[in-house]
Amino acid sequence: MNYLRLINKENPLGKNYEAKNLVKVKIKTGGNKIIYLEKKTYKQVKKLLKEMNKHFDTEIVIDSGYRSYNYQLNLMRDLIKEKGTKAFKSLAYPGTSEHQSGLAVDIGFYKDDNYVPKFKVDDFLDEFEWLRKNAYKYGFIVRYEKDKESITGYIYEPWHIRYVGRLAQFLYENNLCLEEYYDFFE
Ligand code: DAL
Ligand code: ZN
Repeated sequence: MNYLRLINKENPLGKNYEAKNLVKVKIKTGGNKIIYLEKKTYKQVKKLLKEMNKHFDTEIVIDSGYRSYNYQLNLMRDLIKEKGTKAFKSLAYPGTSEHQSGLAVDIGFYKDDNYVPKFKVDDFLDEFEWLRKNAYKYGFIVRYEKDKESITGYIYEPWHIRYVGRLAQFLYENNLCLEEYYDFFE
């Protein structure tokens, strides 16, 4: 499994890419959705959430994980209806999403036992701050950072974390996004 694989508009997985080692998520998910993740990604995000949930009254859960090409296509169709071409700023075109690899996780929230389906970032600033500072300890990077929008091509998504393994600490400590890592070092 290549946990470092760069997946973006210029480096797509393609329509026929099949995610490897998917396992079913057995902990609570956003809206009790059925979610699959790559095995190691799942193992690590469970540890991350266990620790994170000690710090907040909000319950933090897995809200999205593996998404097939066709699932992403449907999401894109719906979002284009809602937002027009702005959709491309926050959702990857089918075949180019990290979610198709099973290595990306979107986190979500329950407040007072109620699922918050379309949360506002501003309502969970402390949670996202904790995630930004601690995700690397579990091998994750916050993939679409505020100061990297012009490089990643996506608006700030503090909820989307990507498993990369040990490289996460280096990227965090040097404030590099994955594209910059590939530009500088590969
Ligand atoms: N929201 C991210 C960019 C995705 O759709 O993969
Ligand atoms: Zn995501």
